Amino acid sequence: MRAFGFVLASLTIALLVSADPTPRHWNTLDVATLLRELRHPVKNKLQLSPRDGGTLSLELIHRNSLLREAKEKLHTHEQLLLETLQRDEQRVRWIESKAQLAGKKKDEASSTDLNGPVTSGLLYGSGEYFVRLGVGTPARSLFMVVDTGSDLPWLQCQPCKSCYKQADPIFDPRNSSSFQRIPCLSPLCKALEIHSCSGSRGATSRCSYQVAYGDGSFSVGDFSSDLFTLGTGSKAMSVAFGCGFDNEGLFAGAAGLLGLGAGKLSFPSQIFASSTNSSTANSFSYCLVDRSNPMTRSSSSLIFGAAAIPSTAALSPLLKNPKLDTFYYAAMIGVSVGGAQLPISLKSLQLSQSGSGGVIIDSGTSVTRFPTSVYATIRDAFRNATTNLPSAPRYSLFDTCYNFSGKASVDVPALVLHFENGADLQLPPTNYLIPINTAGSFCLAFAPTSMELGIIGNIQQQSFRIGFDLQKSHLAFAPQQCK
Ligand SMILES: *[C@@H]1O[C@H](CO)[C@@H](O)[C@H](O)[C@H]1NC(C)=O
Ligand SMILES: *[C@@H]1O[C@H](CO)[C@@H](O)[C@H](O)[C@H]1NC(C)=O
Ligand SMILES: *[C@@H]1O[C@H](CO)[C@@H](O)[C@H](O)[C@H]1NC(C)=O
Ligand SMILES: *[C@@H]1O[C@H](CO)[C@@H](O)[C@H](O)[C@H]1NC(C)=O
Repeated sequence: MRAFGFVLASLTIALLVSADPTPRHWNTLDVATLLRELRHPVKNKLQLSPRDGGTLSLELIHRNSLLREAKEKLHTHEQLLLETLQRDEQRVRWIESKAQLAGKKKDEASSTDLNGPVTSGLLYGSGEYFVRLGVGTPARSLFMVVDTGSDLPWLQCQPCKSCYKQADPIFDPRNSSSFQRIPCLSPLCKALEIHSCSGSRGATSRCSYQVAYGDGSFSVGDFSSDLFTLGTGSKAMSVAFGCGFDNEGLFAGAAGLLGLGAGKLSFPSQIFASSTNSSTANSFSYCLVDRSNPMTRSSSSLIFGAAAIPSTAALSPLLKNPKLDTFYYAAMIGVSVGGAQLPISLKSLQLSQSGSGGVIIDSGTSVTRFPTSVYATIRDAFRNATTNLPSAPRYSLFDTCYNFSGKASVDVPALVLHFENGADLQLPPTNYLIPINTAGSFCLAFAPTSMELGIIGNIQQQSFRIGFDLQKSHLAFAPQQCK
């Protein structure tokens, strides 16, 4: 296992942050442009093939763009938002149940504990972002959900006992000359969270994996390996993945899931471990386009390797929970609203030695969640600084909303998330005030959680390149448009 620095003192920070010397206290929210875009969404021409020039760069596609392409009837912005918020609720419960489970002793925890109190037909893991990559020899191009909240990559495989509907033909290992089953004796098999051995005894015994998500969706099959190709012209890499014959869920038509977590079976951990060139940075990054801002219309991307983290990025420590190696913990230390640092105790944001609390950064959660007291402090300060703005009724999980109907633009307090090492995430206004309808209602896009764990969601990450250096244990932010 890679040595993540839980102990901060052992970390050396190579680059100092080039912080803006005069941080802004107010931001201008361009209401008219945002609403025009919502009323007349530009149909994005989807490129389903990676547009790379030999680098390990993949286009990330948001599920709402896919829905727009697939459905004849356009969903309204409000419908899409409500569906996103429902998925979000389940995602958060699932993350919380995983975090709670990790605190238990191994023998107390069983896979049934992973079943959250979810009753809705919506399924966790439907995923917010997707990539296309090649699997097997010859490479088959497949569409996969990317997920920073889980590790093991898996695909639906033929012959299916039970497969959900997917957009691409289901991967058939019999058609791939490089496909191999991982034997039960392999240490890789023992590294699985849940595994069992089947078939004949000894060296040929098969290793079966099982992954289960909060709402009862799952994938079960043979733990296998094959070549994964990222983009044309790039080297194929051998990756261990679950070849699932029995899968249930609604992974939005994807062929499977590409786990980007920090655990040792995740896709980045595997490709970095197998990289023969040790000077190649063990890093990856993604940039999620600001979905609501037409000015930054470009595609989101996922990059692996030395080029993943721009040299101008602000770096802060990436922490590891000794009880749970999947999640990426950020060293968040505070929040400012309108230029004033809020009275938030460090303890309420810190990962404890016992593995509770802390703040994770997740691509699959949309709205940032903070423990109730932290959330209330941010909300109260924000409301305090916006008493001159017309308010609107609360909406779904949002309790701080505004009526910007008829306004061209509005000045709103700046909101900054502070991290160790002086790294500041100076959020653009579209990352915290989001339109909930075309009539001009906007809400503060943060929410409270009754747990101690905070989650930085993808609305707040939009338009930044977010980098993860797994070797140096750095979390990187670079405000740049996704290109
Ligand atoms: C597998 O190979 C067979 C025969 O070459 C072909 O008909 C089939 O389409 C292939 N299926 C997949 C999913 O690759
Ligand atoms: C390793 O990577 C570095 C930087 O990308 C490159 O300069 C070097 O030639 C590579 N070495 C080998 C043996 O591939
Ligand atoms: C809100 O403003 C009032 C009056 O200016 C002040 O007394 C109070 O402390 C402020 N609360 C917060 C949370 O900033
Ligand atoms: C928002 O304000 C406009 C007038 O500025 C008003 O017509 C409308 O009813 C208000 N909407 C809400 C939800 O309060």
